[in-house]
Amino acid sequence: MNILAVESSCDETAVAIVRDGREVLCDCIASQVELHRIYGGVVPEIASRKHIEAIYGLAEQALQKTGLSRKDIDAVAVTYAPGLIGAVLVGVNFAKAAALALGKPLIPVHHIRGHIAANYIAYPELEPPFLCLVVSGGHTMIIEVKDYTNMQILGTTLDDAAGESFDKVARVLGMPYPGGAALDAMAKQGDDTKYTLPRSKPGVNPLDMSFSGLKTAALNLIHHAEQVGEELDIPGLCASFSAAVSDTLVPRVVQAAHITGCRKIAVAGGVAANSRIRRYLQAAADKLGATLYAPPLSLCGDNAAMIGAQAYYEFIAGNVADMGLNAYATKSILGETV
Ligand code: KG4
Ligand code: ZN
Repeated sequence: MNILAVESSCDETAVAIVRDGREVLCDCIASQVELHRIYGGVVPEIASRKHIEAIYGLAEQALQKTGLSRKDIDAVAVTYAPGLIGAVLVGVNFAKAAALALGKPLIPVHHIRGHIAANYIAYPELEPPFLCLVVSGGHTMIIEVKDYTNMQILGTTLDDAAGESFDKVARVLGMPYPGGAALDAMAKQGDDTKYTLPRSKPGVNPLDMSFSGLKTAALNLIHHAEQVGEELDIPGLCASFSAAVSDTLVPRVVQAAHITGCRKIAVAGGVAANSRIRRYLQAAADKLGATLYAPPLSLCGDNAAMIGAQAYYEFIAGNVADMGLNAYATKSILGETV
């Protein structure tokens, strides 16, 4: 089954064609990151306009690259939530028009389910059940993936997402948006014991977590150094901050593995590209006797291939939409897909 998949929830316009949920025939992306960089973050209005400009050409490009014709497309899938509402709407309207014109089913896909499904592309042998640490710009969750479309949230951030805190600290350090990757690169040269930063303490649900205290502590440290004219060890701060984020995430994943008995651990989302989080997770998995699934960096950030992968399983589960499909800025990963 060839699925034409569309992703436009934030600052990447992407169209992919994915066969049977696992085989990526093409994955076309037009990134807007450079455009938003001068503003230090995504400007929603600009994002929506750029999606409109790019989306049709990307779909044409996808067909050309694969040598497929329109009649070879069996369904159209799209990210319908969550994201910047104007941006998501562009993808949803394009996908509706394409499905209508082709006379093929329309499959709505939750963006975070898509991130998880990046693992199905990277690891053809991976099947649920497994645990997934989802760490993106807007979400941080530990999820038990019981089946392709049946999930349970075991723990979640109570305030900021991990990606948000990386980006905020990076921004204050003068790194270009989105700063997570630059902070990660800088951290590699630093001493992670240089600064003492707080770790999120267990709350009512021990698998829940918080990043705002850590973020504020890092920002206070930077501002205080500025005020007293003290020179900061930037690599050391980046390393200490990355260690604190990793120490918040990874022990909770280990605890989730103990609670569920699950020994397959996946990681997903833009922050899954973080070298220290990957290293800590690998060490934890080895200790547990678990297998770690960490997709290549190209599949961690936003892309349409992951949407096409999840769409296949949504279709099998009967989750298709009609022309009344709407876009949503927020929606739980557990919500009914339509
Ligand atoms: O999943 P994603 O592409 O978009 C959302 O769905 O939010 O995630 C983007 C986030 C940004 O916060 C970005 O700074 C972060 O992923 N990121 C990283 C790294 N690469 C990307 N954060 C930490 N370390 C990295 N290497
Ligand atoms: Zn994303």
